[in-house]
Amino acid sequence: MGRQRVLSGIQSTGNLHLGNYLGALRNWVEDQNQYENFLFVADLHAITVPQDPATLGVNTYNTAALYLACGLDLNDSTIFIQSHIAAHSELTWLFNCITPVNWLEDMIQYKEKAVKQGESVNFGLLDYPVLMAADILLYKPDKVPVGEDQKQHLELTRDIVNRFNDKFGKVLKLPEPLIRKEGARVMSLTDGTKKMSKSDPSELSRINLLDPPDKIANKIKRCKTDPVRGLEFGNPERPECNNLLTLYMLLSGKPKEEVATQCQDMGWGPFKSLLTETMIDALKPIQEKYQAVMDDKGYLESVLRDGRQKAEAIARQTLAEVKAAMGYSVPL
Ligand code: TRP
Repeated sequence: MGRQRVLSGIQSTGNLHLGNYLGALRNWVEDQNQYENFLFVADLHAITVPQDPATLGVNTYNTAALYLACGLDLNDSTIFIQSHIAAHSELTWLFNCITPVNWLEDMIQYKEKAVKQGESVNFGLLDYPVLMAADILLYKPDKVPVGEDQKQHLELTRDIVNRFNDKFGKVLKLPEPLIRKEGARVMSLTDGTKKMSKSDPSELSRINLLDPPDKIANKIKRCKTDPVRGLEFGNPERPECNNLLTLYMLLSGKPKEEVATQCQDMGWGPFKSLLTETMIDALKPIQEKYQAVMDDKGYLESVLRDGRQKAEAIARQTLAEVKAAMGYSVPL
């Protein structure tokens, strides 16, 4: 029996932050040798919010470079860019025609984002989960690592599988979510009840993986705390405290009990220094590797070319099976 296949992606809206790293990338890296991994940069999903043509392509490549910098190993992982493989868009259209609109209107993320965009909400935002279903199902993965906020989209993907297979025969494989024991949900530095997010207008709310030491120090210095002395995990009245302590735990690699004891009597000042130093140390190897990857453009291009070829062979095959099942004639 070969290794199980895992597929996942991160949207490429600019700089990746600690939430992307601790919630996704780091887990991919830790588990990668157990699986056959297909990991892509979701640059088609990125345009559901306005993108500047001058930076879209650069951001996409930078994100791929960060995948490498975080330690993905090409022996285990295939890295590619979503828009390089036309089958993603084509399968989306085919799925669009079997997906009820009300399934999409029920998606929490859509409802939240639609409220923010108001009248100018674009159709891509509604269709986002169908593209995600196409991303996944093209590669017939066994497992899809997803965070809490993407669980509902994976459920929808499974509904699409069942609907398609009922109508057209058993072509698509039902993917399972890959849930981690220690769910790392990294929260905003300016509001411990909100997720750390690229779309937060305040730069102070997040630590980007490429932030230099002085920026990290400044953001930690100014992050939100509370007036209580001594730090603790899991107190719902102290969301910032829980978040910062969790960050320290994850970045230091220390067990939770040890961190809890170490910090139980600490004041915010000394804790902030400790967290700053730990964070700078943890990000340093990633930043160095990133620089090395960026200094060798040819290497990155060859990684993405190989990734595309490997991914495309699989995607094309699945797309052909789907079209045949639906009754499309094969072009002569
Ligand atoms: N929507 C995901 C996110 O924002 C990114 C994504 C796109 C994805 N396609 C995917 C994740 C397929 C897993 C599988 O995080």
